[in-house]
Amino acid sequence: VIAMTDLDLSNKRVLIREDLNVPVKNGKVTSDARLKAALPSIQQALKAGAKVMVMSHLGRPTEGEYDEEFSLQPVVDYLQEVLDCPVRLCKDYLDGIELKAGELVVFENVRFNVGEKKNNDELAKKLASLCDVYVMDAFGTAHRAQASTHGVAKYAPVACAGPLLAGELEALGKALENPKRPLVAIVGGSKVSTKLTVLESLSGVVDQLIVGGGIANTFVAAAGHNVGKSLYEADLTDEANRLMAQAKAKGGDIPLPVDVVTGKEFSAEAKAETKAVNAVADDDMIFDIGPDTAEQLAAMLKNAGTIVWNGPVGVFEFEQFGHGTKTIAEAIAQSDAFSIAGGGDTLAAIDQYAIADKISYISTGGGAFLEFLEGKTLPAVAILQERANDA
Ligand code: 3PG
Repeated sequence: VIAMTDLDLSNKRVLIREDLNVPVKNGKVTSDARLKAALPSIQQALKAGAKVMVMSHLGRPTEGEYDEEFSLQPVVDYLQEVLDCPVRLCKDYLDGIELKAGELVVFENVRFNVGEKKNNDELAKKLASLCDVYVMDAFGTAHRAQASTHGVAKYAPVACAGPLLAGELEALGKALENPKRPLVAIVGGSKVSTKLTVLESLSGVVDQLIVGGGIANTFVAAAGHNVGKSLYEADLTDEANRLMAQAKAKGGDIPLPVDVVTGKEFSAEAKAETKAVNAVADDDMIFDIGPDTAEQLAAMLKNAGTIVWNGPVGVFEFEQFGHGTKTIAEAIAQSDAFSIAGGGDTLAAIDQYAIADKISYISTGGGAFLEFLEGKTLPAVAILQERANDA
């Protein structure tokens, strides 16, 4: 693909698609991780003398109507505070806008536009006609083929990858395409069903696939243990067995917990009990991996060459069930491995245990990060490749 950094942007009308989809409460941005990640790209374009327009979605509004709840105004307020230039929110832009050098224009939520999500051609052409150069930089939305991420790239005079997108692809490629081994992946979260394709794809390439959370419960049940009242998916135990066999056949392994931490109710007050994995009672719920398991996994992580992390291994929002996730987080922090992490809950855990500066790369992608792990081609990247091949 063409990189933004290879182009002369001076005096050009540059339209950058960012993923500025951040949580907002009472008109204020509550987590600025994605904004911080997008800033260098925007600043580079401004510094290069471009007339810069930035567009993004926020949330999932109804198309065709303005809804203040989904306005990018809080994001614009944030950008205005951190940037030295004037930042202007523009609500009506589809039929052309006046641009001044040295000013940053932010388009109002692209999902207010009819046809955005359906990747409507007319809408894509209108967006494309606003710019000389289209920059796709929204890694977090690269798995969506929509007018502002895909269609516009077909029609813009030049379509290229922004620095954030390029950096994400490079880091993820390094972790998965030619990794330093052993490659250890941690996939936690509540359900096998939502991450089946990720587990499928990773079980074929990693040396160790650590499963955690509700996902692990399904594997524990598949191995024939009682999981009591734990969250698990009875209809997926055959899949779990198949994945374990597949990992073994390819020389890898999906280690099962040897001990677990249980509670009788899902609450912050629940009493935690540590038990061997084969001693779970009928009225128990598994909420974390046990300390012996955590130590075993930590040792694997310390020796890893590459680590990919998505999903906590326990209910870490309750302190008594957070030991497993904390141990994993600290082992990753202490490891010399190239480590990459992504996903909302994972980022929350990284924040909670204050290890962000010890992770080699933190992805801004949630769904996009998972689709990359699944081995899927991201449509917004594919179109950039097509454009580069045609050029
Ligand atoms: C995300 O938060 O994962 C991206 O911004 C994509 O949002 P979407 O799932 O609403 O398309």
